Amino acid sequence: TTTILIGAPVDCGKRGKGCLMGPDAYRVAGIKEILTELGRDIRDLGNLAPGPLPEVTPDNDRIHAMAETVAWTRTLMQAGRDAAKLGFPIFMGGDHALAMGSVAGMIQHAADLGRPFYLLWLDAHSDFHTPQSSGSGNLHGTPVAYLTGRDGFAGFPTLDHYLEPSHTCMIGLRSVDPAERVALKKSPVRRYDMRAIDETGIARPLGDFLAEVEAANGMLHVSLDVDFLDPSIAPAVGTTVPGGATFREAHLVMEMLHDSGLVTSLDLVELNPFMDERGKTAQLMVDLTASLFGRSVFDRPTLNHARR
Ligand code: ARG
Ligand code: MN
Ligand code: MN
Ligand code: MN
Repeated sequence: TTTILIGAPVDCGKRGKGCLMGPDAYRVAGIKEILTELGRDIRDLGNLAPGPLPEVTPDNDRIHAMAETVAWTRTLMQAGRDAAKLGFPIFMGGDHALAMGSVAGMIQHAADLGRPFYLLWLDAHSDFHTPQSSGSGNLHGTPVAYLTGRDGFAGFPTLDHYLEPSHTCMIGLRSVDPAERVALKKSPVRRYDMRAIDETGIARPLGDFLAEVEAANGMLHVSLDVDFLDPSIAPAVGTTVPGGATFREAHLVMEMLHDSGLVTSLDLVELNPFMDERGKTAQLMVDLTASLFGRSVFDRPTLNHARR
């Protein structure tokens, strides 16, 4: 099946600029060549642009760039839905606000096929604010709330199908705001903070979640935020939080995802090339993508997480 690169230079999800350069940084880091070497057939759709800006008024005046975010959501939902019919979409961001559209499109696609949909959110943050609860007004902090159908998104596209909170798994959490914490407490969203990873290793929570997706014959979207990673290995992001996933934990996650055979779409988000050090963050994100697509040192046909 074809792998479809979708450039999504979304830069309206927060005030600091630079994520618009993300898609080109991934191209410079060789995403196409590396995946081609792994035997994938690649099609690059180039960079998309948002449609016309709707007239919308946010009901919280801290909210930044709502009209642009709504326009991007529409564009990416449709582009993602179209791409998913042809192959495996990779959304090259762009900040995390792009997930409002990319994931919404994948949810509708799964519903078209009559298959359950699951989301793996690899992030330091839960991005579970509503526009009302957000203190920053930055919409990149809201996509999981939107996708799970929480109230407060008037003016954003209404979806035919929403994400089941219990089908969502967040791994890597270490910066959750009080309002998000309260909302998560009432929600069946599965969440693992860094303490959980330290206690059990990262393979256990991920393996448990993958077993559930497999048992349901689900489709799995992975949303990888640069700040999931420790800032020492991935400095090119506006919202660094110390104590993130290590190089080896991150590759293990990607290798297990590959072996599961369950992943059907991917977001690469929050890369800000303006803050990078000689391209090292862009390169790491591309190398992690390679692990997700099967790059490994040796074949491991007998590992017990190698489900397919
Ligand atoms: N919770 C904070 C906020 O609402 C940070 C969100 C960071 N989100 C991200 N996608 N990097 O502003
Ligand atoms: Mn995020
Ligand atoms: Mn984050
Ligand atoms: Mn279920």
